Amino acid sequence: MAFEIITNPIRGVEARHGSAHHGVFDQGAHVWAYQPEGQAPVLWVSEQSTFSPGLPVRGGVPVVFPWFGAGLDGDLTPQHGFARTAMWHLSDTKDTLDRDGRLLVEYELDEAMTGQQDSFPFPYRAYLRAKFTPEYLGIELEVTNTGPNEFTFDNALHTYLAVGDVREISISGLDGATYLDKVTGETLTQSGDVSITGETDRVYTSTSDIVLTDPVLGRTLTISKSGSANTIVWNPWIDKSAAMPDFGDDEWTSMICIEAGNVLGSDVTLRPGETHHLKQRISFA
Ligand code: BG6
Repeated sequence: MAFEIITNPIRGVEARHGSAHHGVFDQGAHVWAYQPEGQAPVLWVSEQSTFSPGLPVRGGVPVVFPWFGAGLDGDLTPQHGFARTAMWHLSDTKDTLDRDGRLLVEYELDEAMTGQQDSFPFPYRAYLRAKFTPEYLGIELEVTNTGPNEFTFDNALHTYLAVGDVREISISGLDGATYLDKVTGETLTQSGDVSITGETDRVYTSTSDIVLTDPVLGRTLTISKSGSANTIVWNPWIDKSAAMPDFGDDEWTSMICIEAGNVLGSDVTLRPGETHHLKQRISFA
C-alpha cells in the first residue's frame, strides 16, 4: 500500500512512490498535491497557508459549495460556502500506485453538514472523488438531493495551478466567451487567449476545454470539465496578495486559478432524488 493516513499538518491521505506525490486533507476533502512520477508539482499551495481546523487552505483544490463568494445576494458566510472547511470522511480508496501509478480516493461530506445548516437546510449527500494517475488528475463533486423538496446551489472546484511565471502563461479555449470581470464589474467578451497582466478575477460562461501553456516550466496542461457552466480565472496580482495574510507577497507570480463551477446565477437545481456531477480533469497535453 503506497498511501498513508497523515496527521501533520492536518489529517488526510498522502501517497509517495518514487518521485510521485499525491495528497488530500480530510478537512474540505481538499486535494493539495498532485505530482506524477517525473513531473514537477501540478498544484500550487502557498507557503503562508494556514493548516488549521476551520480555516481554508490556500492552494490545491478547495471545494466551493453550496455558494460561491458570499452568494448571489452577497450576505452568506463563510466565503465560498462551508464545504471547504467542513470535515469529510474517507469512504473508499483504490490504491494501485505501486503497480500502475494510480490512486483513487472517495470522501463523503459528514452527515452533520448535510441538512443542519441554517443557510442551506436541505438533506443531501455529497461525495468528492479524486483520481490520481500518471496522465491526469480527475476530480468529481457529486451531490444528490435526498429530501422531499428541490434546492439550488453553487459549486466550484477552485483549482490552484503552479506556473513558472504567471506573466508568461497563455490560456486558450475562452475566445468568444462572455465574462463578468469582478475587478471592474463589467461584462465583456474574450478575444483570443487570456494573458495575465494585472489583477484578474473573471467568471466566464463557457463549457470549453482550456489549454494552459507555460513556457517557463515548459509544460502544457489541458483542463477539461463537465457539469459546469462557468470557468473562473483568478490571480490576485500585487496589492491583493499583500493584503491576504495566508498568501506570500511575491507568490502571485507562481500560481493561476482555473476553476470549474456553476456560479452567479448559473447555479444548479436538483429535484428530489436527482444527482449532479461536477468534474474537472487536468491532463498533461
Ligand atoms: C475566486 C473569486 O474564485 O476566489 C475571487 O472569484 C476570490 O473573488 C478568490 O478572491 C479567493 O477566494 P478566497 O475566499 O479563497 O480568498
